[in-house]
Amino acid sequence: MKVAVPKETRPGERRVALVPLGVKTLAKAGLSVVVEAGAGASAGVSDDEYREAGASIAASASEVLQGAGLVLRVNPPSLSDPDEVAGISPDAILVSFLSPLTNLDLVRRLAESRVTAVSMELVPRITRAQSMDALSSQATVAGYKAVLMAADHLPKFLPMFTTAAGTIRPGKALVLGAGVAGLQAIATARRLGAVVEAFDVRPAVKEQVESLGATFLETEHDVTAEGEGGYAKELSEEQHQKELELIAGAITGADLVVTTAQIPGRDAPLLITEEMVKSMRPGSVIVDLASESGGNCALTKAGETVVAHGVQIIGPTNLPAEIPVHASQMYSKNITTLLAEFVGEEGQVALDFENDVVGPATVTHQGEVKNERVRQAMQPSA
Ligand SMILES: NC(=O)c1ccc[n+]([C@@H]2O[C@H](COP(=O)([O-])OP(=O)(O)OC[C@H]3O[C@@H](n4cnc5c(N)ncnc54)[C@H](O)[C@@H]3O)[C@@H](O)[C@H]2O)c1
Repeated sequence: MKVAVPKETRPGERRVALVPLGVKTLAKAGLSVVVEAGAGASAGVSDDEYREAGASIAASASEVLQGAGLVLRVNPPSLSDPDEVAGISPDAILVSFLSPLTNLDLVRRLAESRVTAVSMELVPRITRAQSMDALSSQATVAGYKAVLMAADHLPKFLPMFTTAAGTIRPGKALVLGAGVAGLQAIATARRLGAVVEAFDVRPAVKEQVESLGATFLETEHDVTAEGEGGYAKELSEEQHQKELELIAGAITGADLVVTTAQIPGRDAPLLITEEMVKSMRPGSVIVDLASESGGNCALTKAGETVVAHGVQIIGPTNLPAEIPVHASQMYSKNITTLLAEFVGEEGQVALDFENDVVGPATVTHQGEVKNERVRQAMQPSA
């Protein structure tokens, strides 16, 4: 069976869905990989390296998709170029990030085209599927890069320096939301020598934060909200006010703030008000990783850097694309491990919807929307 790896078309994207190691893995499983010319260029992979790994190179987007039974992408096919979906053969399997709960027009289009769409976001976060979890691998990249970006914008050092020209005190970082991205932000800020404080509404996180050498912010009030599957849920209004008080007390001393707080399926919680930004030292930097779901800071604009009250508020929308070599390497590992769930040893594909990974991750199949959460999202609201 032919596996297609098209060149990503999202503006600013530098990742690729499969690196040469992934080509070798799929070739061993009896699949023949075809990569669009230049697809790996911005992730540091040349067409020759793909050839050496056993892939062939297609000259164009239409050629790479032609006759492919499997299509591997990082970003969802764009609806503004109708060929990105139309070029996929009916009954082919597309594996990609799809944002299926919000990108409903795409889901409809994929169903109409009878494409089987497997969403990397819907791979369940069970222990067995950790090596297929692209949300986590790409959040790791984002958390790391957020701190580097903030450090680069800071008019200060982060580490402590004892020099002949005097002693420089270490910078202070505050991380709000300590999931995968937040924990990596904490670890990175610590590696750069910052003194780090962090907060999350899931109490289980305290120990993880402390094991990284950061301080977990605490209050006498109950500001914990853990819902199904260990994910955060929304705080009550009163709890939210208490959380804002806690953050207001900590943020005035912070040089660098990274926010990552999200609640699955909802707008990001507001954690930093304009008053809090005003209370920060001029020159401080906020990197808001929740910018695309509304932002954790009231002043964030997705995809922009806002300067307000002397504070830079950065709202990046695709940080993993900034570290394309390792982001692609990790994504490629995630996707090849996921494929092993439904590709047999001789390259035969058998989708088993009883499989605890394949079932939940499949969005469309034979013209139908398979995933219950996506189906619910498509219902007209009452
Ligand atoms: N394979 C696995 O088992 C696996 C892998 C990764 C993550 N997980 C689980 O997923 C969950 C978090 O994952 P994520 O990193 O994708 O999270 P996420 O990106 O959805 O959210 C980031 C963080 O924001 C926090 N948050 C939400 N509201 C907040 C608020 N008001 N104030 C402060 N923080 C707030 C959340 O608790 C979470 O830690 C955890 O339960 C984690 O254990 C499981």
